[in-house]
Amino acid sequence: MKNYASSLNDKNKFLIFGCGFSGKFFAKTIRKFGCTVLTSSRSENKDPNSFIFDSENNKLPNDNIFYGVTHILSCIPPDKNGKDPVLRVLTKKLQSLSLEWIGYLSTTGVYGDTKGSWVSEIDEPNPLQNRSHRRLNCEKEWIESGLPIQIFRLPGIYGPGRSTFEAIKNQKVRVISKKDQVFSRIHVADITNAIIYLLQNKDNLEFHQIINIADDEPCSQIEVIKYCYDQLGLKMPNPILFEIAKKELSPIAQSFWMENRRVSNKLLCETLGYKLIYKNYKKGLKNCFFESQKDRLI
Ligand SMILES: NC(=O)c1ccc[n+]([C@@H]2O[C@H](COP(=O)([O-])OP(=O)(O)OC[C@H]3O[C@@H](n4cnc5c(N)ncnc54)[C@H](OP(=O)(O)O)[C@@H]3O)[C@@H](O)[C@H]2O)c1
Repeated sequence: MKNYASSLNDKNKFLIFGCGFSGKFFAKTIRKFGCTVLTSSRSENKDPNSFIFDSENNKLPNDNIFYGVTHILSCIPPDKNGKDPVLRVLTKKLQSLSLEWIGYLSTTGVYGDTKGSWVSEIDEPNPLQNRSHRRLNCEKEWIESGLPIQIFRLPGIYGPGRSTFEAIKNQKVRVISKKDQVFSRIHVADITNAIIYLLQNKDNLEFHQIINIADDEPCSQIEVIKYCYDQLGLKMPNPILFEIAKKELSPIAQSFWMENRRVSNKLLCETLGYKLIYKNYKKGLKNCFFESQKDRLI
């Protein structure tokens, strides 16, 4: 057994840039280790642990925010020019700190279309979409910054409050069939727990700068939607063929269907030994369903 109490504790101070869906989950969890956690927001709010950061409007954190910071997690997507919002305005500041670690949440979109084949960290990125070119550029900026960066490439993120259950409830779900098309996914709790696992074991594990965090079982969207309808005791609408449905999809929605890949988690789960909490969408969605029942969302 590893000594989990040893590396994350009340001596650590985390700044989380971009406290949206994943950032919030991470902040909530890492606080349980006794770490100090401050989170950024673009708008004023009453949370005493929140600070203002808005790269577009040049609203930067006060210097005192950085005092004693040991760890940073950035969950902010690239800006429209493909620059990283944090690095664009804070590189010098970050370089002046004694940081132990920076995590950057990236996307598996950088791999492009593999026509359904498995893709891993040793494969050359081959972005198809402009947004994925921008993302790859941000990864490069982080790597070239000389900061102690670790990059996590993520497929579709879901979790309590953001899953197919909410899409069904809000009538946002489209049942589309496209032959042999699969998507990879990850439950938000596994993003957080995988990162914590790596931080807790950093002295025992070989360091990898780029790591995919994905579940074990990429599968079609229809399989996931059908599972949710079944859980809700509802009948799934008949699927529409992609070729017909695409005329009504937004360009961004269409672009997701242009890429077909299975994201490998072997580095994380075999080489580095992380055990997924939710190995597949069924396990992950059971958790979402349970949490939504608790909150009486559905
Ligand atoms: N959603 C997915 O399925 C998915 C899949 C793969 C990768 N990713 C990537 O993984 C990361 C985390 O995803 P997520 O879905 O958890 O993110 P999210 O909920 O969309 O949160 C993004 C955060 O970034 C902040 N932000 C955006 N632009 C900013 C700027 N110019 N200056 C300061 N803050 C800014 C937002 O601030 P406010 O809180 O003030 O709005 C928000 O808190 C993102 O980079 C995302 O693109 C997402």
